[in-house]
Order: sequence, then C-alpha cells, then structure tokens
Amino acid sequence: MKLLIKFILLYGLLFASAYAENTPPSAEKAATKSPAQQMDRDSVCTRCHDENDKTPVLTIYQTPHGNKADSRTPSCQGCHGESEKHISSKTNSPDVIFGIKKGAYSASDAKDQNTACLTCHEKDQNRTHWQGGAHQVADIACTSCHQSHAAHDKVRDKRTQPDVCFTCHTDQKAQVRKFSHHPIGEGKVACSDCHNPHGSAGPKLLKKNTVTETCYTCHAEKRGPYLWEHQPVTEDCATCHTPHGSNITPLLKSRPPFLCDECHDGPHASISPVAGNAAGMQGGLSPTLPSESFTGRACMNCHSMVHGSNDPAGALLQR
Ligand code: HEC
Ligand code: HEC
Ligand code: HEC
Ligand code: HEC
Ligand code: HEC
Ligand code: HEC
Ligand code: HEC
Ligand code: HEC
Ligand code: HEC
Ligand code: HEC
Repeated sequence: MKLLIKFILLYGLLFASAYAENTPPSAEKAATKSPAQQMDRDSVCTRCHDENDKTPVLTIYQTPHGNKADSRTPSCQGCHGESEKHISSKTNSPDVIFGIKKGAYSASDAKDQNTACLTCHEKDQNRTHWQGGAHQVADIACTSCHQSHAAHDKVRDKRTQPDVCFTCHTDQKAQVRKFSHHPIGEGKVACSDCHNPHGSAGPKLLKKNTVTETCYTCHAEKRGPYLWEHQPVTEDCATCHTPHGSNITPLLKSRPPFLCDECHDGPHASISPVAGNAAGMQGGLSPTLPSESFTGRACMNCHSMVHGSNDPAGALLQR
C-alpha cells in the first residue's frame, strides 16, 4: 500500500515536472492556485450560468478540463476569454463563442476558436502537424469534432467517432457500408486508427508516412520479409485494396482476373476472359488452363501467395 502511494506521488511529480517544461501562458497563473481557488475563478460566470441553463454547462466538471485538482486546466475564461463586456451586460457577446450552432450570439471564427484551444494544446505531440494539415487549411474548428461541456466526447469513443466524421465525410459513410469493409461501423476499428485528424507528415492525414506502413500496424504479417516479393505489395497496398469498403471481397478495387490483368496483360491469354484470344500467348508460357480457373478465386487458384512467398519454389507466387 505504501509503495503504491509512493508510486502515485512519484508519478505525479514526474508528470508535473514534464509539464513545467512547456507550461502554456494561461496555465502559468493557475499553477499557484488551489482547487478551491480554481472553482472560485469560475464563479465569475457560474453565478449566472448554473444548472438552470438551457444547455448543460456544469457537466464540464465531469470532464478532464473540469478537474480542478489539476492546476493546468482552464477556467471558464481560459477558453471563453475574459469577456468583461458580457459580464457587465448580456447584450454583449462573450469573447469566444464556440461551435457551429448559433445561440444568442453568432459563433467566433474557426481561427479564433482554435487559438483558444491551442494556447494549451499546440505543443502536444499529436498536434505537431496541425498547422498546414487538411483540417486546419479547410478552417475546421477543434469544436467541429470535440464537445467540451459534454461528459461524453463522442469523437474520442471508437463507437461514436464515425458519426462525427460522417457529418462531413459522406463518401466514406457510404463506403464503410459496402459488403467488404473494415469493421468501423462495428466499433472495432476507428478512423483514428489510420488517420490523425490533427495533421500528419504522411499523405491523407495518415498516421504513418505511407499507406503501406499504416496497414502494417495491424497486418504485420504482410510486411514479410519474403523470399519472393510481389512488387506492388511492397509499394502500396492501395494499388489493389480500398481502405474503407468495397463490394468485391476482400476490400478489392476490382475483381480478379481484371485486377491482375491491369498489370499482367493476360499472361494466359489463350483462355483469359479478358483478352480472350490466342494472340496474347507468350513464348509458350501459357499452359492450357481450364476456364473454371478464372472463376472463384481466379488467378489465386494457382498464384495463391499474392502478397509474397517464402517457399524456395514460390517464384511464381503459387505456393
Ligand atoms: C450577469 C449574468 C451573466 C454572467 C455573469 C455571464 N453570463 Fe454568459 N450569458 C448570460 C445570458 C443572460 C446569456 C444569454 C443566454 C441565452 O439567451 O441563452 C449568456 C450567454 C452566454 C453564452 C452563449 C450561449 C449561447 O446559447 O450561445 C456563453 C458562451 C456565455 N454566456 C459564457 C459566459 C462566460 C464564459 C461567462 C464568464 C466570463 C459568462 N457567460 C458570464 C448571462 C451571464
Ligand atoms: C488552459 C489550458 C487548456 C485550454 C485553454 C484547453 N485545454 Fe484541453 N486540456 C487541458 C488539460 C490540462 C487537459 C488534461 C490533459 C491530460 O490529462 O493529459 C486537457 C485535455 C483535453 C482533451 C482530452 C480529454 C481527455 O478525456 O483526456 C481534449 C479532447 C481537449 N483538452 C480539447 C480541448 C479543446 C477542444 C479546447 C478548446 C475548446 C481545449 N482543450 C482548451 C488544458 C487546456
Ligand atoms: C476532425 C476531427 C477533429 C478535429 C478538428 C480536432 N480533433 Fe482532437 N481528436 C480527434 C479524435 C478522433 C481524437 C481521438 C484520437 C485517438 O484516440 O487517437 C482526438 C483527440 C484529442 C485530444 C486527446 C488525445 C490527444 O491527441 O492528445 C486532444 C487534447 C485534442 N484532440 C485536442 C484538439 C485540439 C486542440 C483541436 C483543434 C486545434 C482538435 N483536437 C481538433 C478529432 C479531432
Ligand atoms: C475547454 C474549454 C472550455 C471551458 C473551460 C469552458 N467552456 Fe463553455 N464552451 C466551450 C465549447 C467548446 C462550447 C461549445 C459547446 C460544446 O462543445 O459543448 C462551449 C459552450 C458554452 C456555452 C453555450 C452552451 C451551448 O451548448 O451552446 C456556455 C453558456 C458556456 N460554454 C459557458 C461556460 C462556463 C460558465 C464555463 C465555466 C464553468 C465554461 N463555459 C467553460 C468550451 C469551454
Ligand atoms: C484501415 C485504415 C483506414 C481507416 C480505418 C479509415 N481510413 Fe480513411 N483512408 C485510409 C487510406 C489508406 C486512405 C488513402 C487512400 C488512397 O491513397 O487511395 C484514406 C483516405 C481517406 C480520405 C481522403 C479520400 C480521398 O479520396 O482523398 C478521407 C476523407 C478519409 N480517408 C476519411 C476516413 C474516415 C471518415 C474514416 C472513418 C469512418 C476513415 N477514413 C477510416 C485508411 C483508412
Ligand atoms: C466539419 C466538417 C468535418 C469533420 C467533422 C471532419 N472532417 Fe475531415 N475534412 C473536412 C474538410 C473540409 C477536408 C478537406 C477537404 C476534403 O478533402 O474533403 C477534410 C479532409 C479530411 C481528410 C483528407 C485529407 C487529405 O489530405 O486529403 C481526411 C483523411 C479526413 N478529413 C478525416 C477525417 C476524420 C477521420 C474525421 C473524424 C475524426 C473528420 N475528417 C471529420 C471536413 C471535416
Ligand atoms: C487498426 C488496425 C487495422 C489497420 C491499421 C488496418 N487494418 Fe485491415 N483489418 C483490420 C481488422 C480488425 C480486419 C477484420 C479482420 C476480421 O474480420 O477477421 C481487417 C481486415 C482487412 C482485410 C480483409 C477484409 C475482408 O473483407 O475480409 C483487408 C483486405 C485489409 N484489412 C486490408 C487493409 C489495408 C490495405 C490496410 C491499410 C490501408 C489495413 N487493412 C489497415 C484491422 C486493421
Ligand atoms: C497485387 C494486388 C494486391 C496488393 C498490392 C495487396 N493485396 Fe492484399 N489481397 C489481394 C488479393 C487478391 C487478396 C485475396 C487473396 C485470396 O483470395 O487468396 C488479398 C487479401 C488480403 C487480406 C485478407 C486475407 C489475408 O491474406 O489475410 C489482407 C488482410 C490483405 N490482403 C492485406 C494487404 C496489405 C496490408 C497489403 C499491403 C502491404 C496488401 N494486402 C497488398 C491483393 C493485393
Ligand atoms: C500494379 C501492377 C500489378 C498488379 C495489379 C499485379 N501485379 Fe503481379 N507483378 C507485378 C510486377 C511489377 C511483378 C514483378 C515482375 C517481374 O519481376 O518481372 C509481378 C509479379 C507477379 C508474379 C510472378 C511472376 C513473375 O514474372 O515474376 C505473379 C505470379 C503475379 N505477379 C501475379 C499477380 C496476380 C495473381 C495479381 C492479381 C491478384 C497481380 N499479380 C497483380 C505487378 C502487378
Ligand atoms: C490453373 C493455374 C493458373 C491460373 C488460374 C493462373 N495461372 Fe499464371 N501461371 C500458372 C503457371 C503454371 C505458370 C508458369 C507457366 C510456365 O512456367 O510455363 C504461370 C505463370 C504466370 C506468370 C509468369 C509468366 C508471365 O507470363 O509473366 C504470371 C505473371 C501469371 N502466371 C499471372 C497470372 C494471372 C494474372 C492470372 C489470372 C488472370 C493467372 N496467372 C492465372 C498457372 C496459373
């Protein structure tokens, strides 16, 4: 028990000192205040905004921001601004109004909203690439995805996250409902398992630098190394697969043999339904294949190791 307490204390100290290195300006002042004093700061606003407000405001105390024992957390004014004019007369808007909903006053520009959040969150590791990222460039507000007063922030829960993204990304909404799909609707895989919505060094806000590296995070077995590699597999999984959904299982962009013939140009052209004539036969390579070889798993009936082979005799990816 003593050990546990020691551990917690030590951890707390480490945490506090790690934080001290990049203390945001607005939290610096707060650092000297006790939880009671912190609550007191909120009373400037909570004397009017209490449990009688139309939309629940005090639920913020059920979120990490409302944890007054943590001196780094913002007061009401830490996010909404000092808002002195609003306090003196309700006809004036507070300094920062979040969200896209219009209430008594119109919402602030996305840029001003985000500045309020970024005073504390810009240095977080996950937001290093926010500036210049697709969402920042498109003027999307932090609060288009995050809800600060709600006890349950939908976008940070795997099961409810897709609904938040789908409000804008309707193409992906349709794709994940196709016959073959990553189990996103089922709540097992989240958009944020592959994407960092805050920005990234890779393409399409992917968490890793390439599509293939992103896929390897879960499908590690496809990384190999293989004795016999299949060139497109090491280059880009998305050559053959679509990440969100497809009606051709498993997540394929087109149906074999067509998928394969895009590059291989009917190596067994004598019977290939694609080329369909003897002219495509290459140097006696094409064996006489029964046409049912092109139904079912098509090319994979014989070339079953399409991602690569470790069999000494697997040069043609057939074992
Ligand atoms: C003297 C009472 C009073 C004080 C103090 C006060 N407000 Fe308000 N506030 C109001 C009233 C009244 C409204 C209009 C509410 C409405 O019509 O829904 C309002 C509206 C707001 C809104 C917009 C709500 C919406 O629906 O769009 C925000 C945000 C807000 N206040 C934040 C604050 C913050 C932050 C503070 C402290 C810095 C604060 N208020 C202090 C009375 C007050
Ligand atoms: C005064 C500093 C400050 C401001 C301003 C601020 N935050 Fe935070 N935020 C924090 C702290 C401290 C935490 C807790 C971090 C931790 O536990 O590691 C936090 C946590 C979070 C979390 C994670 C919550 C969780 O469950 O772990 C989210 C999401 C977040 N903030 C979003 C925002 C957004 C959006 C805004 C602007 C509307 C904002 N923050 C403004 C300090 C701030
Ligand atoms: C497009 C939607 C979206 C936008 C816009 C967005 N976030 Fe997030 N945010 C997320 C998702 C999704 C997660 C959960 C990520 C995870 O679990 O890996 C998250 C997590 C967080 C967290 C907690 C975990 C962490 O990454 O540290 C913080 C803090 C946070 N966001 C702050 C912000 C701030 C500040 C902004 C605005 C500059 C912002 N977010 C804009 C979707 C968004
Ligand atoms: C972490 C930043 C943050 C802090 C701290 C914060 N708010 Fe907010 N506030 C927001 C955001 C973001 C919204 C938009 C609605 C939402 O995300 O839940 C909002 C909305 C509101 C609204 C409008 C209600 C609505 O749903 O339209 C009022 C009123 C309000 N806040 C008052 C307060 C008061 C009073 C405090 C202190 C107890 C406070 N806020 C603390 C970020 C914050
Ligand atoms: C299994 C990983 C994975 C998951 C989960 C995932 N994505 Fe993607 N997403 C990708 C990859 C990879 C690309 C790039 C595709 C390409 O290059 O062809 C992409 C591209 C995108 C694009 C850009 C599309 C374009 O044509 O430019 C959007 C928007 C997108 N994803 C949104 C989402 C949303 C919303 C979710 C959750 C519902 C989601 N993604 C879940 C991997 C994923
Ligand atoms: C408020 C609307 C909105 C929400 C919510 C939203 N996005 Fe976006 N997203 C955009 C816009 C606008 C763009 C840039 C234009 C485009 O590519 O469609 C974008 C672009 C993207 C891209 C493509 C980046 C590129 O380089 O082409 C991805 C991936 C993406 N969003 C993922 C997500 C994920 C994941 C979520 C949920 C966590 C989400 N978005 C929530 C509006 C939104
Ligand atoms: C976050 C983990 C994760 C990442 C990252 C990931 N996958 Fe998956 N993938 C899964 C899960 C979970 C399944 C479902 C497995 C099951 O149902 O047995 C799956 C299934 C698949 C399937 C089979 C689909 C079917 O209909 O049977 C393919 C193909 C696939 N993933 C390709 C990819 C590609 C390509 C990428 C990179 C763009 C990728 N995956 C990234 C977790 C992931
Ligand atoms: C040349 C086209 C092609 C490329 C490139 C490709 N795949 Fe596949 N993948 C297929 C085909 C075809 C199948 C179906 C195999 C079958 O039916 O035997 C498949 C099946 C899968 C499956 C489900 C069955 C299994 O083997 O686990 C996963 C997961 C998968 N691929 C992941 C990946 C990943 C990850 C990458 C990138 C590293 C990738 N694929 C690159 C063609 C490709
Ligand atoms: C994006 C182009 C592309 C696609 C699509 C593609 N391949 Fe390949 N494939 C290649 C390349 C490049 C090589 C290496 C050729 C070489 O080394 O001469 C190769 C090699 C092979 C080999 C080994 C034979 C050899 O000459 O080395 C077989 C078998 C093969 N592919 C089968 C398939 C099958 C089956 C599919 C469909 C699931 C497919 N390929 C899809 C580009 C592709
Ligand atoms: C019934 C089994 C079978 C099927 C089905 C089959 N192949 Fe082959 N494939 C072979 C055999 C056997 C060889 C080697 C022939 C030889 O060495 O004479 C071969 C050779 C190849 C080669 C290397 C030679 C070359 O011409 O470049 C490629 C590439 C290839 N097949 C691709 C495909 C594609 C693409 C499909 C689907 C359209 C397919 N195969 C369907 C059995 C098959």
